[in-house]
Formats: sequence, structure tokens, C-alpha cells
Amino acid sequence: MRRFHVTTFGCQMNVHDSERIKGMLEAAGMGEAPSGEEADVLVFNTCTIREKADDRLVQHLHNAKNRKATDPDLQIIVAGCWAESTRDAIFRDFPWVDAAVGPGRIGALKQVLESTDPAARGAFGSFDDFAADLPKRRERHFQAWLQLSMGCNSVCSYCIVPSVRGRERSRHPREVLAEARALAADGVTEVMLLGQNVNSYGRDLPPDERCTFAEMLRAVDAIDGISRIRFMSPHPKDMRGDVIAAMAESPAVCNQLHLPLQSGSSRVLKRMRRTYDSERFLDLVGRLREAMPDISLTTDVIVGFPGETEEDFQETLRVYDEASFDHAFTFIYSPRNGTEAAGFEDQIPDDVKHERLERLVELVQTHAARRNAALVGTVQEVLSEGPSRTDPAVCRGKTRGNKTALFTPAVPAGTTVSMVVEETTSQTLRGRVESAVPA
Ligand code: 5AD
Ligand code: SF4
Repeated sequence: MRRFHVTTFGCQMNVHDSERIKGMLEAAGMGEAPSGEEADVLVFNTCTIREKADDRLVQHLHNAKNRKATDPDLQIIVAGCWAESTRDAIFRDFPWVDAAVGPGRIGALKQVLESTDPAARGAFGSFDDFAADLPKRRERHFQAWLQLSMGCNSVCSYCIVPSVRGRERSRHPREVLAEARALAADGVTEVMLLGQNVNSYGRDLPPDERCTFAEMLRAVDAIDGISRIRFMSPHPKDMRGDVIAAMAESPAVCNQLHLPLQSGSSRVLKRMRRTYDSERFLDLVGRLREAMPDISLTTDVIVGFPGETEEDFQETLRVYDEASFDHAFTFIYSPRNGTEAAGFEDQIPDDVKHERLERLVELVQTHAARRNAALVGTVQEVLSEGPSRTDPAVCRGKTRGNKTALFTPAVPAGTTVSMVVEETTSQTLRGRVESAVPA
């Protein structure tokens, strides 16, 4: 039996696509190898959001080439966003790659692999097949992704995603809910609703099948057995009152939101084409905290966007401070071919970008430490993900607020416990179990 190994880069969308890739390769009669070294088929599910992602992948491809020199039967497959952005040039620049599929064509994987026609080694574009129905392999029996939509209709000037993942398409609500019920029946207690712009879900559905994101949240909440609902990634422009109310009123929806700010400067936000300004963003944060006082908020911030002045950056620090996020992913702006902002004249020098990143990271850490420290003495519901990697006596899991928790005594993965928080860092909460509820 041939054995595969999938290496995943990038976002949740890719993690979910990798489950499908594994499911498809298993359906094609292959098994999973415990590591890349032991595999006969290497799959790289790629990301192209920043230049660093591209560089890392090229390194992996060169390592794979060296292996192929001693093992000519090794097959190398490239999937995902970088594949879509590079298309057939992959086979010119990396001739040792055997097959490539874009994120909209995962369903064509088997066919591409089996093709003897060298011109048919790549499948790109055409997002018509809603790969949601492909076989999937779940990593954990109690957690699942639930895809609501794919693609993105926003035009953020820095972002390459719309060009590699196409326009937004919502899945039929009946299909989504049937999958949600099947997952619950299969023992899933936590679902992550997925979409590139998840909270604009439903706008493209025909009028007689219309379902808004808020309605979808309530419908999933009503399914027996599902006790935790999260979603990724929402756009601030679509976080309307009905969504906030649905979050606050649905017991299964977690008290957690990842709300990408990108910049705190209204001038920069305009050039990014984010369609909100700093004031509207802070107003939204205020309404979220009012409806859900214990909500934990995380965000994405880009520093060094073209034309960003020191004053603009100060605005980002101010808005971050005022929003008091629990954590953030921080990024140095990276120009992407074909995006609007890559053509802007006023690119920021690298040293300025790095210096701003350092200052921002310091602020992020300060808030993270403070927000976590405020939880000492509280009781948090934690869903166990099993023993921690470094110490099998200690268990790790996630709170409803999506914070990493480390606790004793250890309980099996999938068990929910009440944990008393005893100490915290900017990254984790530590505590002991007060009581355990079998899943
Ligand atoms: N440069 C830097 N960061 C970017 N992101 C998206 N495009 C770029 C880019 N060109 C960041 C945004 C987004 C996250 C997934 O990646 O913050 O929310
Ligand atoms: Fe990377 Fe964006 Fe593709 Fe996700 S959608 S894998 S972040 S390029």
C-alpha cells in the first residue's frame, strides 16, 4: 500500500482542506504515513498570504527534490493557494513536482494523480465543485469544521485571497445543517463554522433559500449535542446587531471572537479598503462587550502598510489599547503580486516595519498577560484535548474563551472539566480540575 503524508500551511481553511485531501487519498486506497520520511506520496497544502509562506514552501520543495533523487518513486503533490497563484508555472520552475491542484479543485486530486497525460497534471480555477462533500478525516472525534462558504467578495487592497479562492459562494443551509446534525450524531460537541468572510454567509443564496449568518448561528445552536460553536473569520463590516444578539442569546456560541482590525488608522483603513474606520471598529467592540461582558477578543494587525506614517502607527497602538484585545496575530505588510497595494509607490522600508512590529508585539504581550491574569481565581469550562506534549501528567485544552489551559489531574480528550485558574502567563492559564463531566 502506498502511504501519503500531508504538510499543511496557512489558515483553518487549509487545515480543513487537508482533512479532505487525506480522506480522498484514503478513499483511493492509500494509508497515512507517520512522517514525511516514511511516505511514498508527499502533499504540501500551501498558503501564499505573505512572501514568507512562499519562501518556506520553496525550501520544502527543494528538500523533497533531494529525497526524490534517491527515491524516484516518490510522488510530490502541491495543493492550495500557492499552487493556485503559480498554476502551470509550478511544473516549469519545479519540474520534480508530479501534480498540483488549487483550493477549488481538491476533488480533481485522484484524477490528476492517475493521469498519464503530462499536460493534465494540474487542476486550477473553477470553484464549481463545493468540495464539502468529499470524504474527510477528522483529527479529533469531538471537534469538527463546518464549512459555510468559500471565497471572498471583499477587495482588501493587500490581500491575495480573492484571486486564489474566488468569489464568495454560500452552501445551502439545508446541506450545512444536515452535516451539523450528522456530526452531532457522530459525537462531535464543538464545531468551527468556516468561511473566508464567514459572517456575510447567505447573501448570495436565492431568495427562497435565504438564511443569514445570525439565523445559521441560532440553527446550529439548536442542535442537541453541540455545546460549543466558534466561527472564523468574520469581517467587522458584517458584525451587525442581529449577529451580536444571536451570539449573546445562543448558549452554545462561545464567548470568543476573532475580529481582524488590520490597522487603527482610519486613513490606512481606507487605503486598505476595509470599509470601516477606527471609530466604527471601537463602537463595535463596545457593543460586543456590552452584550457579552466576558467575551475574549483577538485580532489581526498589519504594520508597515504602504504610506503608514508614525502617526498612523500610533493610531494602531491607541485603538489596540482601547479595544484591549486578549491576543493578536501581528504581521509585517508583504506586497503580493497582482494586489492593489503592491502597486502603491510609498512602500515602507524593512527596518521601519520591523521596529513597529516590535513595539506592537510588546503591547500585545502586555494586554495578553493582563487579560489572562484577571482570570486567576475564576472557574473556566475546559474541553480536554488530552495530555500535554511535554508532560503526560498535565492535560491541555481550550476554555470557551479559546484560551489554552493546562490542568491536573489529566482526563481523556473530549472530556469537559471545570478548572479553577491558579496562575497565568500571556499564553496560557494553569489550574486544577474542580469537577469533570464525561463527554
Ligand atoms: N501582508 C501582511 N499580512 C497580510 N495579511 C493578509 N494579507 C497580508 C499581506 N499582504 C494578514 C491579515 C489577515 C491575515 C490572515 O493575514 O492580517 O487577516
Ligand atoms: Fe493562506 Fe489565505 Fe490561502 Fe488561507 S486562504 S491558506 S491564509 S492564502
